[in-house]
Amino acid sequence: MSHYQQGILAPVPAQARHLFFRIVSTAVLPAALDALAAQVDGTSTVVGFGESVPLALSGSLHGLRPFLPIAGNGVDIPSTQYAVWCWLRGDDRGELLQRSRAIEAAVASALTLVQATDTFRYDTGRDLTGYEDGTENPEGDAALAAAFAGDDAGAGEAGGSYVAVQHWKHDLNAFGAMSSADQDNTIGRRKSDNEELDDAPPSAHVKRTAQESFEPEAFVVRRSMPWVEGRDAGLLFVAFGHSLDAFEAQMRRMAGLEDGITDALFRFSQPITGGYYWCPPMLAGRLDLRALMG
Ligand code: HEM
Repeated sequence: MSHYQQGILAPVPAQARHLFFRIVSTAVLPAALDALAAQVDGTSTVVGFGESVPLALSGSLHGLRPFLPIAGNGVDIPSTQYAVWCWLRGDDRGELLQRSRAIEAAVASALTLVQATDTFRYDTGRDLTGYEDGTENPEGDAALAAAFAGDDAGAGEAGGSYVAVQHWKHDLNAFGAMSSADQDNTIGRRKSDNEELDDAPPSAHVKRTAQESFEPEAFVVRRSMPWVEGRDAGLLFVAFGHSLDAFEAQMRRMAGLEDGITDALFRFSQPITGGYYWCPPMLAGRLDLRALMG
């Protein structure tokens, strides 16, 4: 399968910029999407669409739905669903800004930018807490199977991927105030050598989300990156799947909805945005937008 947006499986870049758009005109939306497709190669820029786009164009995506807020055991997970998400990948913040301005201008008749977040790779790919992020990501064929709809999904949908995108805001002082044993038990891995802790409490993040422990197994390909805005900082969490179900099962268990145990991550971090998007496959080097159009 090579007709997916290659940037999804490529390693996390040194720098990135995430753009979130809402629709201001449905009448000229098809022309704006055409202009967007002309700017997007699927590798340096990855694009996903929220459900309002196929709804406006009489298209249909089997697995696409809006991200709904989740009330958990003492935690609230908000929704900030937008129409279009763009993930600009690169290594130069100036170039990323110029690329995002070009995309903004190309789609301006139909889409307006609501939020833009610059993200970056920290050290070898760590969260700002210092823990390695992405260790248990599936690789090779397992990553393809986890992230993309297979050929049986049919033309226009095979090679497509569903993605959950959430800004998490960290309280790094609260995290820093924990003992290192407490920190390790919060994540379920040792910061010093990234070893998984067999005796971590059930609230430990990697115990909550252990992908093979779900029924059915809940594998996703995560491409999260840290963000910093002024004095605020956190993780821009990004998880691709052949459906949204794996992410949602993980999120619900993290929120304590399965067994009343809330993920220990919530002791120092809160989700402040959340949306679901569908990343179309590529056809002859261009985004294949057929499934979005009726
Ligand atoms: C504050 C936000 C988050 C932080 C700092 C964080 C950090 C981490 C870290 C350090 C690991 C261990 C290394 C690895 O395997 O990548 C991990 C694993 C994982 N995380 Fe997160 N994570 C966050 C949010 C989430 C969310 C919202 C989900 C899904 C709903 C999630 C799903 C997973 C999964 C599936 C694993 C691998 C579990 C396994 O199979 O061992 N994470 N995360």
